[in-house]
Amino acid sequence: MAKTPPSPSPDLAPIWQSLQAHAGEMKKQHLRDMFAANPARFRDFSLSHGEMLLDFSKNLIDAKTLRLLEKLAQQAELESWITRMFRGDRINNTENRAVLHTALRAPADAEVTVDGQNVIPEVHRVLGQMENFCARVHDGSWTGYTGKAITDIVNIGIGGSDLGPHMVSTALRPYWKDGLSAHFVSNVDGTDINETLARLNPETTLFIIASKTFTTRETMTNAHTARQWFLDNSENRHSHVGRHFVAVSTNASAVQAFGIDKDNMFEFWDWVGGRYSLWSAIGLPITLIVGMDNFRKLLAGAHEMDEHFRHADFLQNMPVILGLLGVWYRNFLGASNHAILPYDHSLRLLPAYLQQADMESNGKGVSRDGNPVDWDTGPIIWGQPGTNGQHAFFQLIHQGTEMVPADFILPARTHHPISEHHEILCANCIAQTEALMRGKTEEEAREELAAAGMDEAQIEALAPHKVFPGNKPTNTIVLRQLTPFNLGKLIALYEHKIFVESIIWNINAFDQWGVELGKQLANVIEHELDSAGDCSSHDSSTNGLVNYLKRQ
Ligand code: F6P
Repeated sequence: MAKTPPSPSPDLAPIWQSLQAHAGEMKKQHLRDMFAANPARFRDFSLSHGEMLLDFSKNLIDAKTLRLLEKLAQQAELESWITRMFRGDRINNTENRAVLHTALRAPADAEVTVDGQNVIPEVHRVLGQMENFCARVHDGSWTGYTGKAITDIVNIGIGGSDLGPHMVSTALRPYWKDGLSAHFVSNVDGTDINETLARLNPETTLFIIASKTFTTRETMTNAHTARQWFLDNSENRHSHVGRHFVAVSTNASAVQAFGIDKDNMFEFWDWVGGRYSLWSAIGLPITLIVGMDNFRKLLAGAHEMDEHFRHADFLQNMPVILGLLGVWYRNFLGASNHAILPYDHSLRLLPAYLQQADMESNGKGVSRDGNPVDWDTGPIIWGQPGTNGQHAFFQLIHQGTEMVPADFILPARTHHPISEHHEILCANCIAQTEALMRGKTEEEAREELAAAGMDEAQIEALAPHKVFPGNKPTNTIVLRQLTPFNLGKLIALYEHKIFVESIIWNINAFDQWGVELGKQLANVIEHELDSAGDCSSHDSSTNGLVNYLKRQ
C-alpha cells in the first residue's frame, strides 16, 4: 500500500489518508471513460455565476473526490478562516497584519474594522481623491509645466506595484481614454526606463511612483532617473516636478523626502499586501487610462466574487473548487506545476501576474507556526496566451511525462470581431481541452495512418509517436466578455483560490520573507562592485563573479 504523505495537521491525517487512497483509485481511471459513463458530467461538474462559467468536468475527479475534498476544507476550518479574513483579523501572523484587499472593493456602507476603526470611509476617501485627480487629468485642468494636457502616464513600480496595474491596463485596452497612453517601468535594468523615456515628451508626461514601502531599490532608482530626465529636459526647475510626479505609497515621509507634495500622494495601508494591491491607489494608472467608472466596475466585479466566496456552499463555490482541485493535484496526484492559458491576447500578462499572486503567496516551506512543512505547497505557475502556446510548449502537456493541470480562460465575445478570428480562437481553446482529455488511442492512431495510405511497416514505426495518452486535467473559465467587471471577478477568483490552498496547507499566504535575502546580499555586492580592489568576502564563485565583472 502506498505510504500516506504527512498531512498539514494531525487533525487532517484521516481525511488526508482517505484522499490518498482515493487518488490511488482515480489514477486507474481515464477521463474518456468517465465522460462515456456519465453523459451529464458537464452538468455535474460545472458552475455558473453571473457572466462566468467554470467547467471543471475535465478533471480527474468524481463525486466521491468532491465529497472528500469538501470534508478536507471543512476539517481545515476554511469557513472560519474566510470569516476571519473578511472581518479584518490579523491573519498575516508573521507581519501581525490584517488582510483586507476585500475591503478595498466593499461598498461605501460596509463596515470592516481594524483596531476598532472602520476602514471603509478611508478607502472611499482615497477613491474620491483618485476620482478628482483623474477628472482633472482627463478634462485638461491638470496640465504639465507648459500648460499642455497630459498625454502619457508612466507607472514606476515593481512586483505588486507594477504587475497588477500593468496586467489590468493591458487587458482593458478597448476601454482606454482617447489621447492617453500608459507605460510601465519596473526593471532596474536601465534599458527599461531608457527605452520608455525615449518615447516621451516631458511637457506632457505624468509619472506615478508606486511603492508600498517607497524604499524598493529598483523603483527608487528608476524614480530618480525619471526625475533627473525630467529636469534635464524641461527648464531644470524643481518647482515643475510637482505637476509631473505623483506617488502611491503607505510611507508619507519617504514620499515627501523624494520631493512629492503630500497632496499628490495617494495613500494605502499596511493591511493591503503588495500582490493584492491593484484595488487600492496602486490602481491609479488603471483609473487614469480607463477612467474611474471602469475602475469602479472592476472593483464591483471583484466584490461580486467576494460575496460568492463568502456565502456559497463549498461545492458551489468557484474559488473553493479551484483551490481544492489545486490541492488534489499537488498533494495527491503529484503535479508540480500549473499552467495559466488565457485564450485572449488582452490577458497576455495574466500568467505573469498570477505567478506573483500565487508563487509569492504559497511558495512557503514552513507552516503558520514556523515548522518545516512535510507536504507540498504552492506549485510552479506558468503560461502563455493561446493560441501561441500551442505552437510552443503544448507538445509537452500532450505527450510529455509531466502532468500539467491547466486553466483555459476564454471570453465568449470579443472586442475585435474581425472576420473569423474569434471562432478560430474559441475552436482552438475548446479543442485543446478535448484533446487533452480524450487523447488518441493506438488503435485510432493506426486507423488514421492507414487512412493516410501508410503501409504496415510505416504504421508500425509511426503509431507510438501518434498516440496521445489523454487524461490530462483542465479547467475552462468562460467570461461573457472581458469587461472591467468580469476582469475584477476573474482576478478575485484567483486570489481566493490561492487563499483556500494556503488554508489547507496551513501556511501564511500573505508574507514574502523569501524575497529578502537576495535584496540584502545585492546591497553588499553593489558596494563591492563600486569599491577598489578585489573582493574576497564571499565564497569562491561569488567572489569570482564580482571580480570578473569589476575587470570588465
Ligand atoms: O518582491 C517583494 C515585494 O515586497 C512584493 O511583495 C511587492 O509587491 C514588491 O516587492 C514591491 O514593493 P513596494 O511596493 O514596497 O515597492
